[in-house]
Amino acid sequence: MSAKQDNVKALKGEGQGRLVLDQQGLDAARRSLDEGAVTPSYGPWREDIVNLLNGALATELVCVMRYKRHYFTAQGLSSPKIAEEFLVHANEESAHGDLLAERIVQLGGEPDFSPATLVQRSHAEYDESTELKAMIRANLVAERIAIEAYSQMIALIGDKDSTTRRILEGILAQEQEHADELKDWLVD
Ligand SMILES: [Fe+2]
Ligand SMILES: [Fe+2]
Repeated sequence: MSAKQDNVKALKGEGQGRLVLDQQGLDAARRSLDEGAVTPSYGPWREDIVNLLNGALATELVCVMRYKRHYFTAQGLSSPKIAEEFLVHANEESAHGDLLAERIVQLGGEPDFSPATLVQRSHAEYDESTELKAMIRANLVAERIAIEAYSQMIALIGDKDSTTRRILEGILAQEQEHADELKDWLVD
């Protein structure tokens, strides 16, 4: 049989196993209760996924601090409205961090809130700009880094952990809204 015919056969699912549950896995789920939500089908990537989530958590925490700094220090005619939006973003980044920490714990990992290493572990930078436009620009850069990092994480996780992927997809959508708003303010 040609390789092409083999491919067609594989695509149709012929010659493959039936769609039935693995009884061994179900039996194993009765044991290892200390694993909580993680059962045998989870696969060997738990540690990698926890590490990815901790990198994202560090990024969110640094973003909270950058937005808060900007919220409290923004000055100028157009600053009140934009400063309020910085605060909205800060609170949304904080909520993202909470989602990530909660998922890390569900996966049996430890959320890393250590302030000593936060900046090194964050993908995006803290910023102390004093001028409004420079603040907006720094936040837009950080949001674009977050968007790229979340997109890569979602691609890496694929169907290995659909719950984590959905959480990341929800966060990604909000980072894209943040970036879109910042881009508009940059031209205003
Ligand atoms: Fe965020
Ligand atoms: Fe954001």
